[in-house]
Amino acid sequence: MTGTVVSFEGILFPSLHYSPEILREVQESFIIKDEDVLLLTFPKSGTSWLVETVCLIYSKGDTKWIQSEPIWDRSPWVETKYGCELLKEKEGPRLISSHLPIQLFPKSFFKSKAKMIYLIRNPRDVLVSGYFFWRSAKLVKRPQSLEQYFDWFIQGKGYSFRKRATRLPWWSSGSESACQVVFGSWFNHTRDWMSMRDKENFLILSYEEMKWDTRSTVEKICQFLSKKLEPEELDSVLRNSSFQAMKENNMSNLPLLKGRYFEENGQLLRKGVTGDWKNYFTVAQAEIFDKLFQEKMADLPQDLFPWK
Ligand code: A3P
Repeated sequence: MTGTVVSFEGILFPSLHYSPEILREVQESFIIKDEDVLLLTFPKSGTSWLVETVCLIYSKGDTKWIQSEPIWDRSPWVETKYGCELLKEKEGPRLISSHLPIQLFPKSFFKSKAKMIYLIRNPRDVLVSGYFFWRSAKLVKRPQSLEQYFDWFIQGKGYSFRKRATRLPWWSSGSESACQVVFGSWFNHTRDWMSMRDKENFLILSYEEMKWDTRSTVEKICQFLSKKLEPEELDSVLRNSSFQAMKENNMSNLPLLKGRYFEENGQLLRKGVTGDWKNYFTVAQAEIFDKLFQEKMADLPQDLFPWK
């Protein structure tokens, strides 16, 4: 079984759980409250890791919450019908996850004091992670090969790399299928959200810094959210949000969704490393990606991208 997508304002979404009506309602009339905390990512950037970490910070390292409630209920996706309904019923400060591009995000956020953490990741790793994920998901048209997914990913919206790509050795006519990457172009998503980077209620983090210096990153999150942890509470946050701990936590990995939404071999926690793209990209793909990144992101401060 393979899933289908719906298009809303030129961006594709899995048709299961997403609809133009809900997306419009969320954009126009979902109320973000000042005390809400928003966890925003392009898919496959480490969303679940961030959610788990923030949940553990909220519970001061206590694992009861993360082990008793599914991750998508603890921090619901505002853009899904399920998540949106759940959020409306929640009292008090809410954790809210989202993959939405900035132009589709609830308008109320931009007038609120709600804090947002935007987590980025080397797009090459986002691409590889996305390929393995969507290939085992029953939610969208599945990529047939990494070459095809690479093509979809770099096409993005409104960007034609095709002319140059057709001269590459790995290019085949089979690669020429319409872009099926959901949530739009990584480049647009990242550029657009980064325009918020000077705002006080906006924190940019990267998967890479989380990986290379997890403790400092958790401390940074605590400071941003005005949460104070005792040393042993911080240790517990680190221990229980590790790759291995999350893999063993059935409320955070995918076993609950297997069968219906994912194949048996589908994994949310696949490898959990930085730089895995080097094991998959050809030299030609690496070159084309470098050029594209330069073209699309050159005018942004490059220290925002720690993976170089
Ligand atoms: P890989 O597929 O490269 O392993 P998202 O939650 O946005 O879908 O991102 C999934 C990616 O984050 C996967 O990357 C997954 O392994 C990684 N990830 C999830 N939890 C992690 C953790 N605790 N430590 C490191 N990586 C983690």
